[in-house]
Formats: sequence, structure tokens, C-alpha cells
Amino acid sequence: MSPRPDNGRVVPLPLLSTHSARRSAATCKYRCGNACAHEAPNPTENPYFGDIATSALSRRGALKAGGALALAVGGASALSGTAAAAPGSPAEVAGRGVPGTDFTPVAPNKEDRVTVPEGYEQDIVIRWGDPVIEGAPEFDFHHQTGAAQEKQFGYNNDFAGFIPLDATGNSGLLVVNHEYTTETHMFPNYDPENPTEEQARAAWAAHGLSVVQVTREPGKGLKPVFGPYNRRITLDTEFEVRGPAAGSELLKTSVDPSGTKVRGTQNNCSGGVTPWGTILSGEENFHQYFANADKITDPVAKERYERYGVGTGTSERKWERFDKRWDVAQEPNEPHRFGWIVEIDPHDPNSTPIKHTALGRFKHEAANIKVAEDGRIAAYSGDDERFEYIFKFVSNGRIKPGTSALARRHNSALLDDGTLYVAKFTGNSPAAEIDGSGRLPSDGHFDGTGEWIKLASGDRSFVSGFTAEEVYVFTRQAADKVGATKMDRPEDMEINPVNGRLYAALTNNSNRGTPDHAPVDEANPRIGNKHGHVLELDDDTTGTKFHWGLLLVCGDPKDAGTYFGGFDKSRVSPISCPDNVAFDRHGNLWITTDGNELGSNDGLFAVPVEGPERGFVKQFLTVPVGAETCGPVILDDLVTVNVQHPGEDAPDAQHPTSHWPDGGSAAPRPSVAAVWRSGGGRIGEA
Ligand code: FEO
Ligand code: CA
Ligand code: CA
Repeated sequence: MSPRPDNGRVVPLPLLSTHSARRSAATCKYRCGNACAHEAPNPTENPYFGDIATSALSRRGALKAGGALALAVGGASALSGTAAAAPGSPAEVAGRGVPGTDFTPVAPNKEDRVTVPEGYEQDIVIRWGDPVIEGAPEFDFHHQTGAAQEKQFGYNNDFAGFIPLDATGNSGLLVVNHEYTTETHMFPNYDPENPTEEQARAAWAAHGLSVVQVTREPGKGLKPVFGPYNRRITLDTEFEVRGPAAGSELLKTSVDPSGTKVRGTQNNCSGGVTPWGTILSGEENFHQYFANADKITDPVAKERYERYGVGTGTSERKWERFDKRWDVAQEPNEPHRFGWIVEIDPHDPNSTPIKHTALGRFKHEAANIKVAEDGRIAAYSGDDERFEYIFKFVSNGRIKPGTSALARRHNSALLDDGTLYVAKFTGNSPAAEIDGSGRLPSDGHFDGTGEWIKLASGDRSFVSGFTAEEVYVFTRQAADKVGATKMDRPEDMEINPVNGRLYAALTNNSNRGTPDHAPVDEANPRIGNKHGHVLELDDDTTGTKFHWGLLLVCGDPKDAGTYFGGFDKSRVSPISCPDNVAFDRHGNLWITTDGNELGSNDGLFAVPVEGPERGFVKQFLTVPVGAETCGPVILDDLVTVNVQHPGEDAPDAQHPTSHWPDGGSAAPRPSVAAVWRSGGGRIGEA
């Protein structure tokens, strides 16, 4: 690999930066196509739940009501080096944590660096433009090309999965999603009205995924190497469409009359590592890359595009000038070929990646697998937009243990044959007690039961007026029809390997309970939900009923409308806009944030979910200015995070607001960062 200049260097910014901690305009424009500026595209009057007799509902007794009044906790503090415990800060009042969370919390801050707890170190693993494939040209910020980018690490890394290659875990594969491009920051003097074809080609190659072999020495971070598995997957890589919608008329284009081969993947947000050692990745905000959906006059087709927000007029990136597939007027089915869960087999660099249609098409954040006792598998997935839904797929077949080529092939096929469900939530407290403030109802919990409603199984549809193919391709509308529960941006959902429960981040929803929008309910209990919440779900995997409760109602713990699993709020770290989730070996939940609304940079937090410290949220790190924390990987003695879009609040590449990670006057580069204990040792253990 080429040398990485000045990796550890940090450039502190003045504490009183004018940078807003809120999501930047560029993030809105390039990541989601300004989705928040538009009306949320779910126009249905789906029922929300009201008062339900509590006597009929049982609830596991894990939750403990949080009755303590909040006390002041520290705000931003000027830091250099590792975190210092400011007077009154979480660090000062924190006791020793349970195993895995026994570290001194980082105080909220606005520094242009990765800040880690005292006694920990951090370094960069790989940056946008670093070589992935041997022979990749050296990154040249001023002359980036598609040919170079195809061999280099892509842009805006989001999900990361770590796959050990040996028993020690000292050699492994890091598989990383590259969610979206921000052309104004990637190309100096970029003209948004007149992008060049070379810029478009560089952007296509900056999407997709990277498979990077990494090695480590005990007590150090991760180093990328050129291994036989290294691979770039881009918007040019061929994918095989599988499952019940493969070959559908709805997926055929002039380039692919079979409806079974798609060029590329895009907007790969979060994901999951399967028990058989492959990666599932969610195609999320694909809608914004398309142009001219408004030229379609057929009312049924028009409604379908609108329900997914497919682009009208000229697209932001104007790719339709260079490839007609981005022009809906010319290739009306091309948008239907994105919005799927894709599977990558990193063990086989020659494998054709798969789009699994049985899991439905929507703005998939991720998909994660739970194995039932009988060997069938469930895949859980959230549709990340305001007022969208949570889905589950249950396989008909049973898992084959291990990660052999045979097991990988067999288990991958499980995702093509099963039943797709959508979630309906019911609260167990009277509707009058859900007042929109976040105040707990009289039973002390936001909680209740739920039902998985069948949408389709193989070629059989359970939704009136929809064929099975239509359910899979227009899953949002099928879910509308069966009265699924509108949620506050369901993002990452993962299964706790210790207690078997599912944890889902619901990032926020500024429109919740506001005029002309869905009202609050017990699962989405705050009006204008600014800081989001974390849902805990007890599901029997293959069945149709579940119990649920809110583990966290996020925000400033001084705000009475927050809840931290019943833990003493005077001792927790403030947390806002939960996005990705992960677990350590002890079953503690680790949460990254996206768009902190409390005035600090985004970060990574750890929280026990069992025992007396359930709800004791502690901040493990913060990321640089303008960045979002994504893709946490929590190993026994190493943590990695994806630092996505550092400096994204800058107006353009000529006026950077972050110089992370290279420092000086360098342009910011999305990168993977690793954190470990000085001198080695397990993360968060005494
Ligand atoms: Fe790409 Fe849902 O965040
Ligand atoms: Ca309740
Ligand atoms: Ca996300």
C-alpha cells in the first residue's frame, strides 16, 4: 500500500465553531436527495394504535422505570489528546462500568478529530482513494478518474463487516459499503450544472463496496494489505437478481431483457454479516439518482414512482446525460432494479453478487439474520424514511452450519424462498397517556405487543389487488394496504447475540405528530421526534407475534422527555439520532449517531441492556467536524468505525471545514478509523 502521511495527526478547531451539529445541507442534498424537504412519501391513513387493554398483554420484566430527575451533565469541553473528565461531566460521575463498558466516557465536543477515552489510541485504517487493488494509482484529489477510483477505496463508507480469516482474528476481511457521492466535495471546482463524464464515471466507481484484507498486531490497529480477496464492487459490477421477482416484467430493461442481471449497486447504507460469512447490504436512497419520473403519465406507474420519491426533472448529479438508464422516461424499469438487499460473498472474489427480491424493495437500511431453533432464518430490515415500516422475511429452508462454499451457497438460497412480513405495533397504555412529550405512561414503559402481517410467500400474494411480483417490487404500497405501523425512520436493526432480542435504531422524525401527519403512538411517542429512540423487540423468529419496548428515548438527559432504560439520567451521556447498532461479546449495545441535534459532533456509544446498569449510556468516541459515525465493528480488543462525510458542511471543495484525517490544508476524506487500548487489552474491561 502507499504510505499514509500523517495518519495520527489531528487538527483541533476552536471550540466555539460556527459549525452546526445538525445535518448539513450537502448531506441532505447528496445523501437523501433532500428527502426531508419534501413531504414524506407515505400518504396513507394507516391506523395508529390507541388504547389497548393491558390485561391481555404480557411483558417481560426487564424494563425498569426511570424515575430519577435529571441532573446537569457536561456540555462541550475543549479537549486535546484523549478525553478529559470535565467537572459535572458523565466522566466525572461515572462509576466503573459492566464488562465492555468500563471506560471513561468522552465528553461532547466539536473537534476535528476522533476523540477516544483516556487510555485508548486511534488511527486510520483506510481512506477514500487509498488503494484496494494492487496497481491502483496514487490518490490525486485534483485529477480523480473513474479508472483510478475503480481500484481505490470508495467514498462515504457506511457499513463495515469484519470477517476473520484465521482463528486468531489477526487477519481478516473488512467489507465496507460506499453509500453516496458528494460531487461538490470530491471534485475541486465542480460545476453542478455541467458535470463532466469523467466525474460521473469516478462517482459510479466511488459507489458500491470494498473488500479489503487487513492484518493486525496485538495492541495495534488494522493495516490494509493486498490480498487475494481484495475487490471493488461498483455501479458497473454485474449482479444476479434472485428470488420470486427475478425475471419479472417489472425489472426488464432494454439492456437486460431477462430482468435478471443488474449493473451495479448504489446507496449501500448499513448491512450485516450473515452466519455463513457473507455480507448483506441495503440499497437505500436510490430514488435520487433518477431523472424525469414526472414524464410518465400512466397514473399507476406515476403513483409507484411517487411512493418511492423517484426523481423528477433533471437529477442532482445529471448522470442521465451520460447513461440513459438514469432517465426514467427512457428506461422506466431501471429504478425498480435498485432498493434491494444485496449479498456479497467476500470469500470468493469471483462470485457474482446477488439481489434478493424475496426481501422486498424499499429504502433498505440493512438486513440482519436471526436463526430459529428449528434452523429456519429470519432477516429483519427497516425502511429508512419518515413514517416507513419494519419488515421481516422468514425462510422455508433450514440453515447449513459453517462458512464452507457449500454452506454459503445453500444458505444464500434460503433468502430466495420464504415469507415476507411487515410489522404492526400495538401499545399497552391508554392513548391519552401518550401525550407527545416523551413522558412515560403510568405503567412506566413505552411498550406493547406486535404482529407480523404476511405480504407474500413465493408466488403467492396476501395483499388484495397485488400480485406477488408487485408486492416484492412495490413493497411500500403493499405494506400500506395491510395497515403496517408508520415508524420514525427505522434504520439499523440487529440481534443481540447474548439475549437474542432485536434492537432497532429509529433516528428521528421531525413531522411526527405535527399537523397533517401521523400522530404519536406508544412506539413513536414524541411530537416532532428530534432525537430518535431505540426499540427493543422480543420476537420468536419464525412466528407472527412479538413484544416490544423502548430501551432509550434519546436526547439531552436533562430533558424530561428522555428515557434511558430506567437508569439514573444524571449519569448518562447525552445521545441524539441513533443510526447503526452493534454488540460486544457481553451483549452490550453499541450505537452510532447521525445528525446529533445537541450541538456536539456525532459519536459511538455503549450501553448495557441487562442488569443494574441497563440504560447507562456512555460515549466511547466522537468523530470529526461534519462527520457521521457509521458501521461500528466491536471486536474484543479493537473497535472500528466508519467516519462518513467529514467536513460535509463545507460549501465546496475549495472551502473545507475539516482537514481530517490528513491535517494541514488537506481535503477531508471519509475513512475507517480503529481504536484500541494503549498497550493492548479488551475494550471496556478492567
Ligand atoms: Fe444511509 Fe439510513 O442512513
Ligand atoms: Ca406501556
Ligand atoms: Ca444509516
